Amino acid sequence: MKTIIKNGIVVTSGSIFKADILIEGESITSISSHITQESADKIINAEGQYVFPGGIDVHTHLEWPLMDTETADDFVSGTKAAAVGGITSIINFTKPEIGASLIPTQEEWIEKGKKSVIDYGLHAIINHYSDRVLEELPILAETYGVGSIKLFMAYKGEMMVNDLEMYKIMKKAGELGIITNVHAENGDIIDEMIAQALAEGKTDPIYHGYTRPTIMEAEATGRALAIAEAANAPIYIVHVSCAEALEKVVEAKKRGVQAFAETCPQYLVLDISYLDQPNFEGGKYVCSPPLREKWNQDALWNGLQTGIISVAGSDHCPFRYEGQKTMGKDDFSKIPNGLPGLEDIFSILYHFGVHKGRISLNKFVEIISTNPAKLFGLTKKGDISIGKDADIVVFDPNRSRVITAECQYQNVDYNAYEGMKVQGVITNVLSRGEVIVKDGQFIGDLARGKYLHRSRVQNQESMANLQKDGQFREPVK
Ligand code: URP
Ligand code: ZN
Ligand code: ZN
Ligand code: ZN
Repeated sequence: MKTIIKNGIVVTSGSIFKADILIEGESITSISSHITQESADKIINAEGQYVFPGGIDVHTHLEWPLMDTETADDFVSGTKAAAVGGITSIINFTKPEIGASLIPTQEEWIEKGKKSVIDYGLHAIINHYSDRVLEELPILAETYGVGSIKLFMAYKGEMMVNDLEMYKIMKKAGELGIITNVHAENGDIIDEMIAQALAEGKTDPIYHGYTRPTIMEAEATGRALAIAEAANAPIYIVHVSCAEALEKVVEAKKRGVQAFAETCPQYLVLDISYLDQPNFEGGKYVCSPPLREKWNQDALWNGLQTGIISVAGSDHCPFRYEGQKTMGKDDFSKIPNGLPGLEDIFSILYHFGVHKGRISLNKFVEIISTNPAKLFGLTKKGDISIGKDADIVVFDPNRSRVITAECQYQNVDYNAYEGMKVQGVITNVLSRGEVIVKDGQFIGDLARGKYLHRSRVQNQESMANLQKDGQFREPVK
């Protein structure tokens, strides 16, 4: 199969140029100002449109058990939503039972993911420390291509690890070239604040926000970064929501810690007032860390543009309003945490970032595709260049659309960005050379996604390069 994308404006993290792209089989084989059409099986006319590398969302929770329920999107609905929204690869989290061996968990999640319509990788969550964990890490890395793990500093009893456990696990991960994702909130103090609020009869969703203050995110972020520094290990702080936590990342980068940060569309666009909506509407917006005061958004956008924040991930953790979010109608601490966002992250970042003049087109590609590929070892993704997988989004910047739950692929009964008009419409999405989305409709085959066996070498090289924003320091011998 040969496809030519003609006359589009190709945008990569480093350049913008008008070109034709030839795709043979699954890969990009030529990029040139004019490619003759004779031999092509399919021509996509991209005149006047942007041609982006496919989005890579490294923060998704499909089929994910949390707080006595499970997220509403499985790998079918979730990856269809992703595809329609311009995301052509995801990295989802596993979820082992506490104390469980990581290897069968990995097998189980690879199996679940086989239903995916786009390529998928898995970060291994580790929720306890044991000698076996340290023995399993090299197996995960080598046999399963898992170059990243995830630790939680909150959700006590469900996932939280303590400082010593973090240190031991991160030290081993660092030796192996594995990057550690960290959810940084002080779980102990937060649990105490929640108990106090409930004892005072404060049960509405807004108290979710008040009991998880920015200082407790900043404290945990600073602590995680210090532990990573002591363990001489690379660290990736997920879902940074506020200026105070971001400041900790800046300080760590200055010290030469291999520290990277992610933020999410909800923290860039929504704010704590959404939690205060009457009639339990606020329940729809419960996620952790919580939505923050609006002024934090400027710091996050600035962090993206300056390179302090390397990646935008959705933290797609979708729960239906009816029957799931409403589990916490009388007690905010029982509202399952998380927002849907996989289908709209690409649009939201383009509209509120590029269209509103907060980030450049190149920066947009960098944070939604190139950096996630580099940091998480996806050597064939994240760029439009010869030899890369033909994961491509064709995007018409002259059209607009209104986001609404009514026509979404996400399996939820609301959309956190309901009614927002966004500039730009995705006209075609290609995954490894195959057109899987046309004019908003998913038209690909089911179960066509491949498990992403990830490289660690790429991680290390890329991390050194991305570290330019701080000062890269040689490992302590
Ligand atoms: O509220 C959130 N973010 N739910 C998903 C779990 C997590 O903390 O990432
Ligand atoms: Zn031409
Ligand atoms: Zn988290
Ligand atoms: Zn998450």
